[in-house]
Parts: sequence; structure tokens; C-alpha cells
Amino acid sequence: MSENQMKKEIQQVSEEEVEQLMQSLPKVTIMNNKLELVNYQGFWHPSLANYLKSTLLFQRHFRARNTDLIIASFPKTGTTWLKSLLFSVVNRFNYPNKDQTPLLKHHPHELVYRLEVDVYGNAFEYPQPQHLDDLPSPRLLHTHLPYTSLPESIMTSRCRVLYIGRNPLDTVVSLYYFSVKMMKNMEGEDFRHPSMEEFFEDFYTGRVPHGPFFEHMVGYWNQSLERPDKVLFFKYEDLNDNQVFYVKKLAEFVGMPFSTKEESQGVIDDIVEMCSINNMKELEVNKSGVINKYFEKESYFRKGEVGDWTHHLSPSMVERMNTLSLMLEKLEGTSLSFKMLSSQ
Ligand code: A3P
Repeated sequence: MSENQMKKEIQQVSEEEVEQLMQSLPKVTIMNNKLELVNYQGFWHPSLANYLKSTLLFQRHFRARNTDLIIASFPKTGTTWLKSLLFSVVNRFNYPNKDQTPLLKHHPHELVYRLEVDVYGNAFEYPQPQHLDDLPSPRLLHTHLPYTSLPESIMTSRCRVLYIGRNPLDTVVSLYYFSVKMMKNMEGEDFRHPSMEEFFEDFYTGRVPHGPFFEHMVGYWNQSLERPDKVLFFKYEDLNDNQVFYVKKLAEFVGMPFSTKEESQGVIDDIVEMCSINNMKELEVNKSGVINKYFEKESYFRKGEVGDWTHHLSPSMVERMNTLSLMLEKLEGTSLSFKMLSSQ
């Protein structure tokens, strides 16, 4: 598709259409009334930065290639980690020398584009591909959209989806700290942020970007059971426990298994080490600068622990998450469960 054709297609989502749709959708505000969310197709999404328009564009115009590899995730469940692992596995023959990996010069979010924002949106701060056709195959892409909102061609083509899920308690803590930072960048340092209790309530009722959390995960979980060749579901905690095993699984899933020679040469260990949070945190490229205007690069690397929630959530919050059936009914009912504490 030429650039002109692309522009023409993009115009098919007019400002009026977005405006009308926006007006018809339920809305809530969170973060002390400073962040508006709209409910689109059953999930809450930010109404910021033309997000709805770029989502419509993504849904209508994206044509998946059979070779595409698409990471899907709920925010703060390990997306950045999975991006760096996938990028390293797929590009290992392009950069056989460890010192040449683009991860040393680019944040993982600059190497694996988020479709509804980086590709179809306009909140872009780093070099944007002219359009998707310019990306070499296999294209590595990412989305926070729930499974039911994905463009049809992702479902019908032979492209593959890699989802990463995480236990809800660590996710809510991670999302809280990330959101507070983001809001301070948007609103100024004196932004009066909600307490953990207030934020927990919003998470619990699903009112966070791309929530409800459980529905998001269960949608992909069910698909991973129904179509295991199409959707691979990682759990942050399992990946953390056995990185070599899951990196091998990832490589097999994307059709690029490691050879015995590579294994004995330590290629997998090198990838695990390169992508470890301790290493990524220390890279200059990840220490300063922002992504999409408000998201500090360093804020994607906080603690990276399983069970950090024990330091931040009260027993009653944990109890509520359990008893009010979110975890028990929805997760157990679908055979999806998570480790809540580190096994080390
Ligand atoms: P914490 O806030 O609990 O530390 P996302 O990438 O989806 O935004 O998720 C961010 C979470 O993943 C943060 O969790 C972050 O520290 C953690 N994370 C980022 N890179 C990681 C890595 N290489 N290994 C393990 N965890 C990582």
C-alpha cells in the first residue's frame, strides 16, 4: 500500500465518527478524577491522545501476515520483558555477537511497536515506520487490546499471539506505581495521587486502562487452550522461575527452536541474562528519556519480583480480591491460576 493509499484509508475514520462514538460510550474517571476511561467493547480504555481513533484504525485496517508475531498483554504483567525476549530470540542470527544487539541502544518498546498507539496513533516520540509494510518479516508487534477486540485478520491468519499474564496482586501494585508516575508527568509534581486503597478499588471493579483485568486474561487463556498453536500463554511467575525452559518454549512456538549447538554454546543463557531486569535497568538507554511523551523509560523496570504485593496490600484487600470471587470464580472456573509468591 502506498503512503497516499494509507492516508486515504486512515481518513475513513473521521473525527465526527470518533466524536459520536465517544459521546455514546460509558465513561468513568479514575486517579482522583484526572484520567478518563471509556468503555469500548466491554473494556475500559483511556480516552487520551486519540486512543479510540487509533484503536478503530487498527481494528479496521490492520492486515496480519501469516508470519506476524503479536505480543498481547494487560499493562504491567511483563510486556517489556516478553518484548525483549521475543526480539532476542527472533533476531539472534542477525546479531550473533552479544555486543551488537539493538537492545543495548533501544528500549524494548522501541523495538516492538504497540499497534493501537505507536503504529495507528499519533502520540509518537520515536522513529515511526512509514507503515507496517516497511517492517521485515516476522513483524514483532504488540497490543493491549482484549482478545475479543482484535482485528479479524489476527484471528483468521496464521499469525501467532504470545500473551503474558501475571497474578492480580502484583499487577495492581505495579500498575499503581506506574500510573502515579505517569499522572505526575501529565499533571505536574503536585498531582494529588489516590491512595493504594482507592486505586485497588478501581482495579477490583475493572476500572483501569484495558480492564477488567480478569476478563482480559481469561479471553486469551481460553484461546490458548482452544488453539495452542495460535496463542501461547506465559505466566510471569513461571517465566521467572524457569527462564531457560520458557525461552526454549517461546523459540519453538515461533518456529525458531534452538539447536543443540546453540544450547551448548550458551545462547539461551545469554538471552536470559541480557533480558534480565537487573541488566536492562543498568543500560543507559533505559535510564532516561520517555516513550510516548509521558512514560519514563526507567518506569518500565521497577522491582520485577513475584510477591511484592505482600509489602503494599493490606490483608483485607487480599481477602477481598479472593472472596469477592474475582480470582476464585473466574480463575478457578477457567483453570487459570497463578503463583502468588516467589518460589525462591
Ligand atoms: P514491577 O512494577 O512489579 O516491578 P510491563 O512491561 O507490562 O509494563 O510490566 C512492568 C512490570 O514488569 C514491572 O513490574 C517491571 O519491573 C517488570 N519487568 C520489566 N522488565 C522485567 C524483566 N526483564 N524481568 C522481570 N520483570 C520485569
